[in-house]
Amino acid sequence: MKKVDINKGEALYEGKAKIVYATDDPSLVIQHFKDSATAFNAEKVGTISGKGEANAMISRHLFEMLETKGIPTQYVGFQPPTDLITRKLDMLPVEVVVRNVAAGSLSKRIGYPEGKPLKSTLVEFYLKDDDLGDPLLTIDHIRELDLITDSQVEALKKLGLQINDVLLKFFLECGLRLIDYKLEFGVADGQIYLGDEISPDTCRLWDVGTGEKLDKDRFRQDLGGVEEAYREVLKRIESN
Ligand code: TMP
Repeated sequence: MKKVDINKGEALYEGKAKIVYATDDPSLVIQHFKDSATAFNAEKVGTISGKGEANAMISRHLFEMLETKGIPTQYVGFQPPTDLITRKLDMLPVEVVVRNVAAGSLSKRIGYPEGKPLKSTLVEFYLKDDDLGDPLLTIDHIRELDLITDSQVEALKKLGLQINDVLLKFFLECGLRLIDYKLEFGVADGQIYLGDEISPDTCRLWDVGTGEKLDKDRFRQDLGGVEEAYREVLKRIESN
């Protein structure tokens, strides 16, 4: 386990699920994972006990695994139980959603029933803007708003598909079907890195055998067993 001893400085930013702290190294920040949970652009607010710890450990594991497959990530080290030491990035102002199976907003948008496999993997871009409710972006919208360059769009699509190949296979080995997920990227020294987190907060994961949802949809849809689902995903990932 990669662990780095470094001192936590002032809080730079507090988001819905994490706090980012400065460190004594200007190129590094600490991401502290919280138990607080929100959904539907923070209309629904709650606490998922043990989520911070589970998501930090799950993200750490997935980032380390992606690095071994040649994906550059911001992950540098782990300070148990809830903190990741990460490269400081200038985050790109888009969220990248990768979808293998219809669910959530895609089902609503194009009328596919939840669970319908897609003909090919979709990579979508959303604007990171809570006031606007993170709307879906077309390439023309991205150009109009000068959000990222055309070559960054291509790079993110390629990275999204590469990450998908790795994650699909890995989660399947854990008995989990990777339905869809959200990625965030940032830039340091001119290079794009995968940032933020990959966890049951940001993925849809269904048990391969039973189809049971083991992700934040349990919180969004009041399905119960939320804490247990996060613990189950962590257990399967760590024993794989
Ligand atoms: P969606 O179907 O609601 O568009 O969500 C697609 C995927 O992105 C799903 O796995 C949940 C994840 N997601 C986030 O991580 N953060 C968000 O704010 C939203 C809306 C979705």
